[in-house]
Amino acid sequence: MISVTCVAPVNIALIKYWGKRHEDLILPINDSISMTLSTDELCAKTTVTASETFEQNRMWLNGDEVPFEEGSRLTRCLKEVHRLALANGSQKVSPSWKIHIASVNNFPTAAGLASSAAGYACLVYSLARLYDIPLSEELTTVARQGSGSACRSLYGGFVQWHRGALDNGSDSVAKQIASSKHWPNMHVLILVVNDERKKTASTKGMQQAVKTSQLIRHRADKVVPERIAQLTDAIEKRDFQTFAEITMKDSNQFHAIALDTYPPCVYMNDVSHKIASFVHSYNEIMGSLHAAYTFDAGPNACLYVLEENVPELLDAVQKVFPSDSMDSGTYLRGLSVPKVDSTPK
Ligand code: DP6
Repeated sequence: MISVTCVAPVNIALIKYWGKRHEDLILPINDSISMTLSTDELCAKTTVTASETFEQNRMWLNGDEVPFEEGSRLTRCLKEVHRLALANGSQKVSPSWKIHIASVNNFPTAAGLASSAAGYACLVYSLARLYDIPLSEELTTVARQGSGSACRSLYGGFVQWHRGALDNGSDSVAKQIASSKHWPNMHVLILVVNDERKKTASTKGMQQAVKTSQLIRHRADKVVPERIAQLTDAIEKRDFQTFAEITMKDSNQFHAIALDTYPPCVYMNDVSHKIASFVHSYNEIMGSLHAAYTFDAGPNACLYVLEENVPELLDAVQKVFPSDSMDSGTYLRGLSVPKVDSTPK
């Protein structure tokens, strides 16, 4: 019997992935950029065990067993890892041995806090360790087939997922733009507005958007390529003003597309909108951009802020949003500094 345990952090998109051109291979219609949080904060922890005595593959998520169905994303990831193991000549574990997987998240699952990103990144990385497969861009194509955003969590710091052009998806890979060491005073403050499961899962929401939104093509073809270039440059120059502006604009455009979907997908709630207005007023009072918000497919806010501005922002947030004004009661979930290459470990 051989066992491996790994931890993988969530990543929060600055330029959002929204829309697929291939459902099964999970090929996106646009590039995206994210920042991976530190492994001390929002994480998935996965143990994979292989044994010749196991009769079937089994998986538990947060203690509940989930089916290992033929054709599922889970099965696809396992098959892909087996393919890489074979290609690498790895002999540590026989691919004929069945495996048991136990995964837990230390934060609410499917509440728009990138749980599937951390979960599949952790699963694929743990399997890779089990079969002795090194971390590579090719491995990101496997994580991508579990959940698109998961491919970005295989690297720490700032990461770009390239949409790629090939039909087989071999060039739809994640690459690191800069490690977290490059911008060590970048922090993220997460305000947990509501920790319930989201109403429309991302997979379904983006499918509907591709089918019905008239704005989504304009975003994918015209807006995102320009923003990717500008944000990469801002990250390279540690230019917080440009970084903040693009991040907020992209979050707003993503939610505009969610609303342009028919029937509309409403992910932000009243508190989320109040947080966005608060950030704009706060920045105006400060005389320059001191904080940037982004919202994924849920109401919770991620605020980017430089270390030197954290105490002031935290103070203002606590005054304007006392914790009992949030549905969850505990609005402050975590304050993260991305650590040196916080890749799964
Ligand atoms: C809003 O990666 O969860 O968080 O590929 O269908 O599993 P699937 O979707 P998923 O979508 C994440 C969407 C997002 C934006 C982002 O992380 O880029």
